[in-house]
Amino acid sequence: MKSVESRRAALDSLRTALEHACRPHKLSHQRYDQTHELFEQSSNQQRLILKWLQDLILSNYAGLDPLKILSVGCGSGILDNPLIESIATTSRRVEYTGIDPNAVACRRFQEAFDNQKLPHVRLDLREQDIESLTSHDRFHIIHVVHSLYYFDDPEHTLDRLLGLLAPGGMVAVVQAPAAELNQLAKCFWTHHEENDIWFSDCLADHLTRRHLAFSRQRIDGEVDVARCFEADCPRGEMMLDFITQSNCRQLEDDLLQLCLSFLRSISRRENGRLLVAHPADAFVIAQPAPDTVSSELVSREF
Ligand SMILES: C[S@@+](CC[C@H](N)C(=O)[O-])C[C@H]1O[C@@H](n2cnc3c(N)ncnc32)[C@H](O)[C@@H]1O
Repeated sequence: MKSVESRRAALDSLRTALEHACRPHKLSHQRYDQTHELFEQSSNQQRLILKWLQDLILSNYAGLDPLKILSVGCGSGILDNPLIESIATTSRRVEYTGIDPNAVACRRFQEAFDNQKLPHVRLDLREQDIESLTSHDRFHIIHVVHSLYYFDDPEHTLDRLLGLLAPGGMVAVVQAPAAELNQLAKCFWTHHEENDIWFSDCLADHLTRRHLAFSRQRIDGEVDVARCFEADCPRGEMMLDFITQSNCRQLEDDLLQLCLSFLRSISRRENGRLLVAHPADAFVIAQPAPDTVSSELVSREF
């Protein structure tokens, strides 16, 4: 890994070059889904998140029947399906609702779920964004793993999610900190120009301002970005697309090189792999006591 100064210089050069450049397009649903899965396979972070979620659910709701879970931004279920499998038992029912606007991802989630053949689990998959969800259900766990960044109005949506909790329920949010890898996404974040990216400090500030009780725990993952540096490697292009959340094949070569130069500067070599820190912050937000929140929040329906 390069010194702090040269990492900062590499990022500044990229930012300056991007000021005058045509921005690459946002990823299509299909491309997003494919690149997301490859990216997660190259990192150990999702495995750590899965373990954290399993522990949270099993230590708080082991005997509950039926256990009701809402997964917001579930994608293709690459996290959710192993989670469902690990908490499904024959002695209690699980009612699992997943919501995501990506039709390609939802289809894959359903197919993989059907293959698991879990008779005690009822899956209700909704192909829509969270802002348009209507539900009279109440949930014990609502998890929002790496999807809050994309919401139109994260503060408002979080308030509404808290209103969907069953008594004793909790909202679990996993959100990236503004670490170096995510600075690349930030450079290309033009699709939501009116909002800054909601990194984990934004979430913590919001919860503190709202006087909501929460815990926060760092998950230290690492992602192998070696493929990004292989010439004409489609998988390397996919990795870079997901990291920047953009179609990098549209980048001029000088911009691509600046991008790679920053990525290399934050990496370290180990056994042929090129590892970059891939941290996440895992939050648990307790259900607000009825007398501490406005009646509007408690009674509001999706
Ligand atoms: C990084 S993926 C995370 C998927 C899954 N939670 C996981 O950890 O594997 C983010 C997901 O959020 C979804 N998303 C984007 N905007 C959303 C919205 N407004 N409401 C619900 N989901 C949304 C995307 O389609 C994408 O599948």
